[in-house]
Amino acid sequence: MSASPSLSSLPHIVTTLRAAGCVFAEDEARLLLSTARTPDDLATMVDRRVRGLPLEHVLGWADFCGLRVAVDPGVFVPRPRTQFLIAQAAALARPGAVVVDLCCGSGAMGLALAAAVDGVELHAVDIDPAAVRCARRNLTAAGGHVHEGDLYEPLPATLRGRVDLLIASAPYVPTGAIGLLPPEARVHEPRVALDGGADGLDIVRRVIAEAPPWLAPGGHLLVETSERQAAPTAEALARAGLVSRVTGSAELDATAVIGARRAGAGA
Ligand SMILES: C[S@@+](CC[C@H](N)C(=O)[O-])C[C@H]1O[C@@H](n2cnc3c(N)ncnc32)[C@H](O)[C@@H]1O
Repeated sequence: MSASPSLSSLPHIVTTLRAAGCVFAEDEARLLLSTARTPDDLATMVDRRVRGLPLEHVLGWADFCGLRVAVDPGVFVPRPRTQFLIAQAAALARPGAVVVDLCCGSGAMGLALAAAVDGVELHAVDIDPAAVRCARRNLTAAGGHVHEGDLYEPLPATLRGRVDLLIASAPYVPTGAIGLLPPEARVHEPRVALDGGADGLDIVRRVIAEAPPWLAPGGHLLVETSERQAAPTAEALARAGLVSRVTGSAELDATAVIGARRAGAGA
């Protein structure tokens, strides 16, 4: 059996990561050291990081809302800014709420909301089989149901009119801006997780237009977007008959648009 990696290798790893351009080399080195099981494992991890894989894909997990979320290779890495939307959703939730996480990726958002609110009934959807497998790993223990397919299509019909919180961080990068993303995203995350069409809102508009029949009276739809896309996103919510508001955090560079179904509204 190989010994655990020794802390004495830390300075060498920091130097190696720094030379490869890792800005937070010391933090990353400590995370790699604490995750690797053997010196060989550590060497492989450092090599993968030096070759440009996202840190979370190398570690196999990401920290999201204080939880350790498994993130498989080829699955979108949950971003710190998305924690803002979870805080907004948690503030609107009641115990036992029915929650749907559309475009769930690893399932990080649903997992965090289920940890913050007692007794939620959680459903998550993704179109990408790799994301679905990863989300199942993360959500099954929390009692979540993960469905594979296009937006609302795979959801059980019994959820219609019952969803208290619909949360979505769908792809919202305009096609023409994909080439400007850092290589960690552009090369190592799937196109289906990033590309939102010409203005970035193709999938977001579908999420919004098809939401009302699923929402419970008084239910909410929370969509992550960018500051620039907030106004057209809010307009799409209004067109769907939802009462919309835009909120954000400069600290997290986060923008969320929240739509509410009026308590007395028909589907
Ligand atoms: C930006 S990632 C966000 C993942 C996750 N919500 C998070 O914040 O970590 C968008 C996700 O949407 C999924 N997706 C793209 N188009 C979809 C569609 N039509 N139906 C369901 N999921 C879709 C992608 O596979 C990807 O996992």
